[in-house]
Amino acid sequence: MAGRHTLTIVKPDAFGAGKAGLIIALLEKHGFVVKAARVMHLSTEQAGGFYAVHAARPFYGELVEFMSSGPCMPLLLERDDAVATLRTVIGATDPAEAAEGTVRKLYAESKGRNAIHASDSDENAAIEAAFFFAGADTI
Ligand code: RTP
Ligand code: MG
Repeated sequence: MAGRHTLTIVKPDAFGAGKAGLIIALLEKHGFVVKAARVMHLSTEQAGGFYAVHAARPFYGELVEFMSSGPCMPLLLERDDAVATLRTVIGATDPAEAAEGTVRKLYAESKGRNAIHASDSDENAAIEAAFFFAGADTI
């Protein structure tokens, strides 16, 4: 059964542009409840570790540089069918292909600077939540 938790990050482009509040409001409109949140500036080591699955991809260096370029906002979210629903709400990786009303259509600049991250499976949601939050950080 699909789980009730997923991990999102308001990426440095959107956080730096002052869009975190608008993005969280949109997520809440879709029924997500914020269970944990923090603001942090990832080191290149942290950004590289978080996206280690993409280490062999040509865009990895650019991705690590971008994700460590400024503060970001990781959030643990809860609702029914959390992972699949959030992937729909954020939209396609490339904002040019994202559906109307999605976070990336509204706030992303490009495929590289695309405003938000979302977990792609229940298993990765649990791993990513543990990357940013201890149990005591979560309501
Ligand atoms: P995310 O993991 O951040 O939620 O994004 P995603 O699942 O939609 O896309 P994924 O394939 O996991 O790629 C991770 C992030 O790498 C950057 N990227 N740049 N320039 C490029 O061709 C390219 N492709 C991917 C994006 O920031 C993407 O969100
Ligand atoms: Mg991904």
